[in-house]
Amino acid sequence: AADVVPKAPEDPLFGLMTAYRADTFEKKVDLGIGAYRDDNAKPWVLPVVKKADAVLRSDPNLDHEYLPIAGLQQFTSASQKLILGKNSPAISEKRVASLQTISGTGAVHLGALFLKKFYRPGQTSSVYFSSPTWANHNQIFSNVNLPITTYPYFSAKTRGLDFDGMLSSIKSAPEGSIILLHACAHNPTGVDPTQDQWKQVAEVMKARNLFPFFDCAYQGFASGDLARDGWAISYFVEQGFELVVAQSYAKNFGLYGERAGCFHFVAAPASDATDVATRVASQLAILQRSEISNPPAYGARIASLVLNDPALFAMWEEDLRTMSSRIIEMRKALRSKLEELGTPGTWNHITDQIGMFSFTGLTEAQVQKLRADSHIYMTKNGRVSMAGINTNNVQYVAEAINKIVRA
Ligand code: LMR
Repeated sequence: AADVVPKAPEDPLFGLMTAYRADTFEKKVDLGIGAYRDDNAKPWVLPVVKKADAVLRSDPNLDHEYLPIAGLQQFTSASQKLILGKNSPAISEKRVASLQTISGTGAVHLGALFLKKFYRPGQTSSVYFSSPTWANHNQIFSNVNLPITTYPYFSAKTRGLDFDGMLSSIKSAPEGSIILLHACAHNPTGVDPTQDQWKQVAEVMKARNLFPFFDCAYQGFASGDLARDGWAISYFVEQGFELVVAQSYAKNFGLYGERAGCFHFVAAPASDATDVATRVASQLAILQRSEISNPPAYGARIASLVLNDPALFAMWEEDLRTMSSRIIEMRKALRSKLEELGTPGTWNHITDQIGMFSFTGLTEAQVQKLRADSHIYMTKNGRVSMAGINTNNVQYVAEAINKIVRA
């Protein structure tokens, strides 16, 4: 192996995190990795998570046994209800197969692996990504050898959605193609289709017989409203699609390192749909067993306690509003400071975009200069993690951006 293994580059995002941590400059600002921070730039353990954690720890019967291959049953069934809506016909008709996964990444991977093995055997189907998309999508789907294509998504001109480009590209995708869609709070752009635009996408996808693969990492975190952030998925299910969903609890529960997530396969309504879901679940279990045997328990136990208890659930919704509203406040603050400074260009996209990120339009050279001159860290595509901005550093960040844009 010594001669054939070339050195791979460091992961850009985790490399950025390491570089930020090593920086000793007092006013350094981390706008890199998508992880929530409070107004003091500190990680925030959700009060509801602290509470659930205390309940778990005080249980004398808590042990460290294996979970089943498909994960904690109370967790996966509550996750179905959360993402599809508790009155979803897909659930009552028993046509959903759900497995607990290693957070959203594990869910995307399990879905990719499953599709590679079972989707349209004998035919080559490509997966379509938005351009741009979360960097890891490329690696995950390449690793299972699914061909990748992209559809236009972000308009550099408006810093909003290139809806015409998106729709016409999806329209011309070969029948059976897999279309990867970010359910809400698109990463990296922060730009989402409107409900009316989602309806048009669904219509085209149905007419062209395309397969929706939803990645949902920000339900409730984006707008503070779980149903609203999950709307696109429920709508597609209502339209009768066969589809899959990767669901992460990293951001909306702040359970980043606990790796709690879920993968769902929803069979299209049909007389044999329950049977389809059962067969799919059995194959997913084999894939899961060979990859991770069974998922980690701790994060799923915490989420499960909260999802299944009405009082804790209400507390969680409160915590979601705390996070989403702080981010929305910081969007307003950053925009208004840039406008006060008369920074060349328009800055409305900062408040128009939603969720963890803003796609600022800063160039790679500007990003590098911000890091060198002001110790402000962001990904080279100009993506800013809004959670890194707070009342103490927003002025500093705005002034630094102002200076770089004018240079
Ligand atoms: C991000 O894009 O910053 C997050 O989703 C973290 C990750 O795993 O890439």
